[in-house]
Amino acid sequence: MTDSLSIRDNRTGRDYELEISDGTIRAADLKQITANEDDPGLATYDPGFVNTASCRSAITYIDGDAGVLEYRGYPIEQLAEQSSFLEVAYLLLHGELPNQAELDSWMHEVTFHTFLHENLKQFIEGFRYDAHPMGMLMASVSALSTFYPDAANIADPNVRQDQITRLIAKMPTLGAFVYRHQQGKPYVYPDNRLSYSANFLAMLFKMSEPTYQPDPRLVKALEVLLILHADHEQNCSTNAVRSVGSSQVDPYSAIAAGVGALYGPLHGGANEAVLRMLRRIGSPDNIPDFITGVKEGKEKLMGFGHRVYKNYDPRATIIKKACDDVFDVTGVNPLLKIAQELEKIALEDEYFVKRKLYPNVDFYSGLIYEALEFPPEMFTVLFAIGRTPGWLAQWSELVQDKDQKIARPKQIYTGARTREFVPIYRR
Ligand code: ACO
Repeated sequence: MTDSLSIRDNRTGRDYELEISDGTIRAADLKQITANEDDPGLATYDPGFVNTASCRSAITYIDGDAGVLEYRGYPIEQLAEQSSFLEVAYLLLHGELPNQAELDSWMHEVTFHTFLHENLKQFIEGFRYDAHPMGMLMASVSALSTFYPDAANIADPNVRQDQITRLIAKMPTLGAFVYRHQQGKPYVYPDNRLSYSANFLAMLFKMSEPTYQPDPRLVKALEVLLILHADHEQNCSTNAVRSVGSSQVDPYSAIAAGVGALYGPLHGGANEAVLRMLRRIGSPDNIPDFITGVKEGKEKLMGFGHRVYKNYDPRATIIKKACDDVFDVTGVNPLLKIAQELEKIALEDEYFVKRKLYPNVDFYSGLIYEALEFPPEMFTVLFAIGRTPGWLAQWSELVQDKDQKIARPKQIYTGARTREFVPIYRR
């Protein structure tokens, strides 16, 4: 065996040879390594799955050192420039770009599933005026499962496809409704004459005008942002979707878990922190002092650094360009100047160079969202809408993968053993 790993267990002196396949060993192969008869076998300890592959996947490829991101083999730069969000969603879900007839039919399907059951509107109305949009979104996505009980039949490919269409179609409607609820404004129903992103903007911002026609440059910028967020392989929220989906629950419940994971500040909330940081810096003159504070470990330069990318995050490059297009329409966000100067100084500074800290996707995205007049609490909702096709493609891959089992990690038990119960009067 050439692609193998030889292991000597120094506890017993026994030797083992484990197969290496795709740069991994199978964790279950370690179980044969035992110290004595009662030993259940060797396991690995890996909080946060920093070095554990949980699946085989053919959806998204990332090379963090080279700054490469590809969906189904297509570079993110080409997709952002030349395709639409629904085209990318089709690609992620089916593995191939659609031809014109397939795209037309897919766009029609999605467009005609955008309406929500009226009871769902009443459900959203039940939230307090100051409820966080992500809390409302998570609850209403999971509530969708009660409207489509057939969704539980995940073994049927047609049933799966119906729920995939519904979820991609209804996420913008849910996102817009929770926003309007928070603003105290009347809900705006979907307009099937508009494109996916134009319709979303209309549901968010339309007031008394008979038809809402957003600027095409803003529609394009939103499309690009949604494409950039559409998938990112086994990140925290995708892992949550796969983990919950592995119980064979319906996809609404699995996607609600993904929304919950994304809600956390370590995952979906960094762009809001970038805005707060830029506001605090206030002027390019204050940047040197700020950088000194970062280097002294007083705080982090938000929007810089990434667990996977040790190079420029390719999405940040694309977003930077989208910033210019948006600011052409909305006027320049004054914080842009500070961001650009901050980036320039940081990229030349030895502290950041040595640690391979480059701007990530969040460094500029908040500036665009703010220019589009989204309040900060809505930023993560936009992320969730963009990520929905990726979550669904990963869920779909999971339920068809014969290798997959219900997610059930091991633990290292550190508690007490087999104690005698003590009645309460004796404690
Ligand atoms: N500013 C200053 N120093 C930093 C930063 C930063 N933004 N990020 C990392 N470092 C430093 C660390 O202090 C550490 O320095 P040391 O070696 O002297 O101790 C070194 O760089 C390595 O950093 P780690 O924390 O080990 O890197 P890790 O991969 O665990 O963290 C993370 C990645 C969480 C993204 C981190 O870079 C960070 O906190 N960045 C700011 C927050 C942010 O922008 N998050 C968005 C990520 S993109 C997304 O989730 C969509």
